[in-house]
Amino acid sequence: MVIEKKPLHSIFTAVPDRYDLINRIFTWGQDAKWRLKTARLCLSTQPVKILDLCCGTGDLAITLAQLAPSSAQVVGLDYSPPMLEKATAKAARVQLKAKLDFIHGDVGDLPFPDEYFDCIGISFAFRNLTYKNPNTPRYLSEIVRVLKNGGQFVIVESSQPPNKLFRILDHFYLRTFVRWMGTYLSKNKAAYVYLTESASKFYTAEELSDLLAQSGFNAVTVKRLLFGATAIHVAIK
Ligand SMILES: C[S@@+](CC[C@H](N)C(=O)[O-])C[C@H]1O[C@@H](n2cnc3c(N)ncnc32)[C@H](O)[C@@H]1O
Repeated sequence: MVIEKKPLHSIFTAVPDRYDLINRIFTWGQDAKWRLKTARLCLSTQPVKILDLCCGTGDLAITLAQLAPSSAQVVGLDYSPPMLEKATAKAARVQLKAKLDFIHGDVGDLPFPDEYFDCIGISFAFRNLTYKNPNTPRYLSEIVRVLKNGGQFVIVESSQPPNKLFRILDHFYLRTFVRWMGTYLSKNKAAYVYLTESASKFYTAEELSDLLAQSGFNAVTVKRLLFGATAIHVAIK
């Protein structure tokens, strides 16, 4: 299988200082609540080894480590050094060192043995791995490889509202307010054109469930949030 060298890497190494604030503005503060829901779903099966895949500035990993029992071990992985620097600084402020590690790595070549994790969570990055990404099959097979049989893969990601009117409004919001404000606040137009185009054209919840089923997951359930503009998929290996 040919792996293209790090698609989107330049977008995610040019992280604006206000990255977290920008996300909060665009989701009207809901992104933190959605990560909390995701963390609770991850922890519902009492996993011990937990991976936050594409952890970015670390919010899901930190929430998982805060809520998990002391026996749990949480790892956040990302291929962007500036994202990991922010994550590490944030974790140091809440003193979670014993339970939480951040490591540099690529989803295409995960540095873990087969069936290592009881649970894998991913927040707002599965689209990056699967929207017009030539490495998607490799990423999915790596995720399946490092997850234990019976383990959960929990994905919170933008989705498509099933109602046509809400879908039109959602896409309008993305292509106007999010694109313009994102470009203005981050000074990185390419990043916000990519974000808004990929989110507008991304899979429906049903299509994403089919992709997961075809990739080796046995059961997939979906929870829709905000009229379906965001969804949490829980896939069991
Ligand atoms: C939109 S950000 C989401 C970050 C974080 N999970 C959150 O909830 O805010 C996407 C993250 O995925 C990371 N990423 C994208 N492709 C990756 C890959 N192939 N391997 C590792 N990290 C990747 C980027 O560096 C970035 O931090």
